[in-house]
Amino acid sequence: MLGSVLAVLLILTLQTHDRAVEGLEQWAYDYTKYHTMDEISEWMKTMERDYPDVVSSIIYGNTYEKRNITLLKIGLSSTDPKKMIWMDCGIHAREWIAPAFCQHFVKEILGSYKTDPKIDEMLRHLDFYITPVLNMDGYVYSWKDNTTRLWRKTRSPGTDTCTCFGTDLNRNFYANWGMVGISRNCCSEIYNGLSPLSEPEAQAVTDFLSANRDNILCFLTIHSYGQLILLPYGHPNITAPNQDELMKVGLAAAEAIKAVHGMDYTVGTPPKVLYPNSGSSRDFARLIGIPFSFTFELRDKGQYGFLLPEDQIQPTCEEAYQGALSIITYIHDKSYVRAAASSIAATLWSIVLAVWLSCATV
Ligand SMILES: *[C@@H]1O[C@H](CO)[C@@H](O)[C@H](O)[C@H]1NC(C)=O
Ligand SMILES: *[C@@H]1O[C@H](CO)[C@@H](O)[C@H](O)[C@H]1NC(C)=O
Ligand SMILES: *[C@@H]1O[C@H](CO)[C@@H](O)[C@H](O)[C@H]1NC(C)=O
Ligand SMILES: [Zn+2]
Repeated sequence: MLGSVLAVLLILTLQTHDRAVEGLEQWAYDYTKYHTMDEISEWMKTMERDYPDVVSSIIYGNTYEKRNITLLKIGLSSTDPKKMIWMDCGIHAREWIAPAFCQHFVKEILGSYKTDPKIDEMLRHLDFYITPVLNMDGYVYSWKDNTTRLWRKTRSPGTDTCTCFGTDLNRNFYANWGMVGISRNCCSEIYNGLSPLSEPEAQAVTDFLSANRDNILCFLTIHSYGQLILLPYGHPNITAPNQDELMKVGLAAAEAIKAVHGMDYTVGTPPKVLYPNSGSSRDFARLIGIPFSFTFELRDKGQYGFLLPEDQIQPTCEEAYQGALSIITYIHDKSYVRAAASSIAATLWSIVLAVWLSCATV
């Protein structure tokens, strides 16, 4: 009797210990809920603290209201130089599913690299630079009350002659700025700002991308809604040099998404599948030479729109995770696996050649 009580106590102690070792936050943080900016900032600190060898944070700019724009860098240490994958969420404030996705993505990567050899391999070659909330001011404002819930833009003030607040960050980049799919009226949802990079948030991303353009293999920016995977460019008369490959990779991602919960995602350039636009971060990334650049528009197709219910967070993130992973795996393998295969082939060929040459001399 006493023995079995002791055994039960021992098992309970061991289980408690296991949970503590796995990281408390995995138990406390609810990934099936939307979170405030303060909660997400706390979550970022927890990730950094719980995975000190894999996660660090970088402040790379400030918002108009002087918040620190912070990203999580995720990767395993390596003696070889590493390439970079960019992901940002929450460039549009009301698209709450996007920050939820960035958090889900981080959780999945951190939860799987120890057991999944492919994730481990990718984390040894690549570092992920993930901004869970880019438009922090707008996101905070969208949480203020139910009259501000659908806020999209930044929170910078207008001018003497136009007194509305906010610029559409995804029209403010230096990529065919002001040409198509924008408004010059500061009260519009697609106001592109006084000048390119008038918004400090767009400037911060631009500086980071420009400084690292030779090392960034892939740029992913996460939005809602519409269930789309968008390729560069938003301008109808400009075509990316690798458009066919972008299309192929995008279609494979859509297939990976569909395989999870059967949801259809449409792939193409904005003029083909949505509407033309200019000044987007996706286009800027491709213009400066980052080879793979995509916008995800997550669920849904308009039933709930920006007000996607919390019970859809988990399935939306699960499928989009497989879509993102499909893209990242392709790009990783293109740079590393195929490069390694061709160097093995080259080595074999030089051996054959050497043997043949040495035969010839005999
Ligand atoms: C921003 O980061 C700096 C440096 O870590 C810190 O001193 C400052 O308090 C932070 N500001 C805000 C608003 O969090
Ligand atoms: C906004 O919130 C108020 C107070 O909580 C509530 O009375 C009102 O119905 C809400 N409006 C909408 C559109 O949800
Ligand atoms: C694209 O090119 C066509 C033909 O030259 C032109 O009429 C159209 O205005 C251009 N579109 C934009 C957005 O510049
Ligand atoms: Zn958006």
